[in-house]
Amino acid sequence: MANLAVTFAGVEFRNPLVLASATPSWDGEGMKRAGLAGVGGVIPKTIGPVQDWAAHPRNGRFHLIRHNGRPIGMVNLELFTTKTREAWVKEDLGVAKEGGAVIQASVLAMPDPEDTARLVEEIQGTGMVDLLELNVSCPMPAAGVGMHIGKSPELTYIQTKVAKSVAKRPLTVKLTPTVFDMVEVALSVKQAGADGLSISNSVRSFAGVDIETGKPFLRGYGGYSGPAIKPVVMRHLSEVARKVDLPISAIGGVMSFGEIIEYIMLGATTVQTATAVMWNGYGIISKWLKDLGDWMAKKGYKSIDEIRGIALPYITTTEELAKLPPLVAGISQDNCTKCGICERVCMYRAVSSIGGTYQVDKAACDGCGACVQWCPGGAVKLGSMAI
Ligand SMILES: Cc1cc2nc3c(=O)[nH]c(=O)nc-3n(C[C@H](O)[C@H](O)[C@H](O)COP(=O)(O)O)c2cc1C
Repeated sequence: MANLAVTFAGVEFRNPLVLASATPSWDGEGMKRAGLAGVGGVIPKTIGPVQDWAAHPRNGRFHLIRHNGRPIGMVNLELFTTKTREAWVKEDLGVAKEGGAVIQASVLAMPDPEDTARLVEEIQGTGMVDLLELNVSCPMPAAGVGMHIGKSPELTYIQTKVAKSVAKRPLTVKLTPTVFDMVEVALSVKQAGADGLSISNSVRSFAGVDIETGKPFLRGYGGYSGPAIKPVVMRHLSEVARKVDLPISAIGGVMSFGEIIEYIMLGATTVQTATAVMWNGYGIISKWLKDLGDWMAKKGYKSIDEIRGIALPYITTTEELAKLPPLVAGISQDNCTKCGICERVCMYRAVSSIGGTYQVDKAACDGCGACVQWCPGGAVKLGSMAI
């Protein structure tokens, strides 16, 4: 049987799947359930200041973004934990521990880094946590916290440096995807001495407008999560993985075991999930872990380390892509269902129906591959001009 264990920032996880800091980890019981379902690690909802200035709106704070009726993402207006620091320290972290997963505590970087340091000391003082995840990336933060810190390499450096100076456990930093260049922020985290990165938090977003009433679905900016954000996260993850020598926990839009593998192939060591658990319940964890183990066995992989980063060498620049030999589409008549989608989606007018069969004018084909992507029967392929 394949061994799913991974070592992240010096800590062993029984498998790479981690419950992200979000609603499913709002209390110890939720994390215990995820642990009993087999998850490798759990991260409580971000623990912040002593005072309760960040109470959640209790009048609806989620909006599903749908395409053809099916959800492709979710905007939320949820803030940090509603549990008091005392409750986490005295009770909930202990309950979470009963699930048997590694505990990676999410601590909020606060406007004054000395407050951040005090929080780190208090949380690690419980003896319940194995790692710390510094949150500099909340997408709807009050002044001076969340992505106000994480968008700046300088502020992120200071917060990380101060937190690391008191941390007795490995310290990772959770970054915001709402920046152009995550690499420069990640480099500042490395320079400040952190042990790992979490890539990334949800994307700052707006839920939309109800056209019947003319009013917004949610009256503030929120965090976008779920399948729609995965390409954004994969961009940041692969750029950082190629340039910054730190272990990475990837987060965003995992909806099947295959996406855990995809993130690992792009350089991640652990992979977190939040929205999928909110949409499917904690049971999805055991299903994915079984599917992951079966896939590893089928492929003959003995450990997760064998696949980490294997996709990265193939990623290249626009300039290099333009030098590659051109390809053109070809249609296999055996598999063609004659649905006509290839003709409709070809903006180069290279596909047409001639004598009842769809054919490609190779001189007109621009090699874009749109027809290949849309063909329902797999009848269209890209090949060299010689085909
Ligand atoms: C409802 C909700 C609440 C969240 N709360 C937190 C939080 O307190 N701290 C944090 O670091 N990230 C928080 N996140 C972000 C998630 O940890 C994760 O980075 C993001 O949702 C992308 O992963 P997903 O697509 O698997 O949900 C929250 C996400 C959701 C959906």
